[in-house]
Amino acid sequence: MNYSLACVAFASFAFAGCGSPTFADAPSQAGTLTVPSGRYPARTDLLAVKIPDGAPARWHTAQFPPLRSMRLLPNTPDADLAADLRKQLNKAILDPTIYEQDVWMPVQADRITRLLDAHFGTPAAPTVRVPAWEQVVATGVVRFDQSVSFGANLKDIRTKLGKAKLKDWEADWQAANEAKAELKLDDATLARGSVVYRRWCMQCHGPSGAGDPAYAVEAGPMPRDYRQGVFKYVTAFPSPTAPKKAGLGASGKARRSDLIQTVRVGIEGTIMPAFGSLSDTELEDVVSYVIHLSVRGETEFATLMRASRPGGDDPIYESGELDWLFLQLELAVLINWGVAEKSEIPVPQEKPMTEKERIESAVRGFRLYNAPEFGCGSCHANYGRAQQLKWDAWGTIVQPRNLTLGVYRGGRTGKDLYARIYGGIVPVAMPSFGQHVTTAPSGTPDKIWDIVHFLHALADPADRKRMQHRDPTVKFDP
Ligand code: HEC
Ligand code: HEC
Repeated sequence: MNYSLACVAFASFAFAGCGSPTFADAPSQAGTLTVPSGRYPARTDLLAVKIPDGAPARWHTAQFPPLRSMRLLPNTPDADLAADLRKQLNKAILDPTIYEQDVWMPVQADRITRLLDAHFGTPAAPTVRVPAWEQVVATGVVRFDQSVSFGANLKDIRTKLGKAKLKDWEADWQAANEAKAELKLDDATLARGSVVYRRWCMQCHGPSGAGDPAYAVEAGPMPRDYRQGVFKYVTAFPSPTAPKKAGLGASGKARRSDLIQTVRVGIEGTIMPAFGSLSDTELEDVVSYVIHLSVRGETEFATLMRASRPGGDDPIYESGELDWLFLQLELAVLINWGVAEKSEIPVPQEKPMTEKERIESAVRGFRLYNAPEFGCGSCHANYGRAQQLKWDAWGTIVQPRNLTLGVYRGGRTGKDLYARIYGGIVPVAMPSFGQHVTTAPSGTPDKIWDIVHFLHALADPADRKRMQHRDPTVKFDP
């Protein structure tokens, strides 16, 4: 990447490596960037709406998460690969900017834009609108029965629909409201968060959270695209059996404290800087705003997916049907965030250990790392030194971390690594390993702590020697 160009483009704020060392030193005239139209831009990148059965030959793993977003396809440096993907997906690609009778129509695109504006506001006046209960009912009912008007009273509606259905709706509506409150998505907080975001984050993450500024395409991992609603460095692990409301359900969502931590300390080894100089209030506010963008983006994403390729029993999503679909998805996304917030990974206290015990634990961790039940090496081949490229949920390429370097993006403490292994990293399909401790007989050593000790030892040449001294069968080369 051409850094001098980037420095010109980013002259109004301190860019790591461009002379101004930290964000704290940014010139005070650093302006708040504005969005030209005053509105959030509509989503225009390609979406893979339906993944064909079986893994296509050139996708690297059979368990590959659905390659939903293909935002980079048009400008990927590997034109050959792009052409191959397009061919394999064929009709399953939605280009939201191209209209075709019976596939995707301007009236649908237009209505989604209006719904997004009404429910999520503008960058200057952001909101997360959960309509009043009467309006939820009206939206749902108009969709069920065109003869029931908005003015119909609840009693008539209840008779028409049956109590059970209304109860479900009401439970969802309540859960969404609770999530909104818990996640601090009120208008005042969002308005303040938007200002912080436009000053410090928008250059990289974009006005709608797409994270695809042209300069970043080749600069290591792209800034996070919030619009799929999944995050990497999180301490939430919702029960795998919890009902999935929309998309991946609550899995892959962050807790507020995760996002605050990410913004405060940055992401080591990437261009995401640390914002240690933001006040606690600014951090809280900007994190609310990031969640707002994510809820907005995922609602848009999910609505586009469903409306453009209705399933067997689905209606054609227009007018009232589209309003109802959108509303249900918005509530579902909020509920998922609420579930994640409450599902903190239970990291047990690390046992105090002698040096000898720590090395013994690391040796056990070495065996677990290579045992089929964990199989870390199937992705982190040669401890991550081998280049084993994978696709991630955004349609970009990731390399399973080189674990010999001791550089971790989600934090280096034992607690951070424990959470990472326990919950996995959802958008890159690193599996969760929590079940190995929850089903272990009590009194046995905690397998995840053993692996954490191994990872710490692996990144330290002196510890590696100590491990081999204790057990000569320990090897660090293939
Ligand atoms: C110089 C570019 C840059 C700036 C400025 C920036 N970020 Fe990032 N951000 C990134 C990159 C790159 C990643 C992805 C790292 C990765 O995939 O590991 C990221 C990832 C994230 C994530 C995702 C973490 C996860 O667990 O998945 C969040 C949240 C985030 N940034 C928030 C912010 C906020 C809030 C601001 C402003 C206060 C900000 N970023 C400013 C580049 C930037
Ligand atoms: C299916 C493939 C896969 C498997 C199996 C896997 N990982 Fe990963 N892992 C990845 C990928 C991909 C990344 C890089 C994610 C990113 O870009 O941030 C990663 C990242 C990591 C990180 C870095 C986290 C950070 O904060 O930077 C650690 C630590 C890690 N893996 C440990 C393990 C351990 C230990 C195991 C076995 C218990 C394991 N992984 C199994 C794919 C895998």
